Amino acid sequence: MRVYCAADYYHASRVAANIISAQVIMKPDCVLGLATGSTPIGTYEQLIRWYEKGDLDFSQVHSINLDEYRGLSPENEQSYRYFMNTHLFDKINIDKKNTFVPDGLEPDSEKACRDYEEIIHAHGGVDLQILGLGHNGHIGFNEPGSAFEKETHCVTLSENTRQANARFFASMEEVPTEAYTMGIKSIMQAKKIVVIVSGESKKEIVKKAFHGPITPEVPASVLQLHNDVILVGDEAALA
Ligand code: F6R
Repeated sequence: MRVYCAADYYHASRVAANIISAQVIMKPDCVLGLATGSTPIGTYEQLIRWYEKGDLDFSQVHSINLDEYRGLSPENEQSYRYFMNTHLFDKINIDKKNTFVPDGLEPDSEKACRDYEEIIHAHGGVDLQILGLGHNGHIGFNEPGSAFEKETHCVTLSENTRQANARFFASMEEVPTEAYTMGIKSIMQAKKIVVIVSGESKKEIVKKAFHGPITPEVPASVLQLHNDVILVGDEAALA
């Protein structure tokens, strides 16, 4: 594992955006695995700036997102599809037809997950996976205790995660209780993984995930077994 420690969030975001840029330049038709959440926003902003300067071309890129709330439509402002459109896809020249997020409106959860795995495989897998890290060690929506061998599946969100995400919803009752997420196995099949962490509140879980025992109780600890992981963070998170 390589670690890039940047002074602050802005610089950590630039490092992560640099790695993504390198991927897009080296392989213009690459498959990017993308995440939502607060952490990658700065990275996406930087990619947009470089795109606007003419330094990046996303016209052949495909993207596959980690997860989506079950029951939310793409138009719902809290859906991850809406997040990706507004924070990145609407602002670069990626073809929306080449962007994939699990179908939150598919009521048949087995079908939703099977279809998503088929999409991943049909694209030859993910070249570069971007991950954020939950305070409980989750990656995607793989909560503590998730089996490492799972592919895309439907999860019941933990109270911890629902509370962490409640800030985006009008009330706690509106926070969905389930989500479709790529599983640990799907994530581990990515050729390269970049984990972005920021802020002091992530310090303890970073230590557990990357320096503690490998255990399903800390889902991100499985990343210690991947042969090409880059951890990018600010000093507060990597302290
Ligand atoms: C997002 C996702 C989550 C977040 C994690 C960290 O698609 O799958 O695992 O990456 O919850 O979220 P933030 O960045 O908001 O701290």
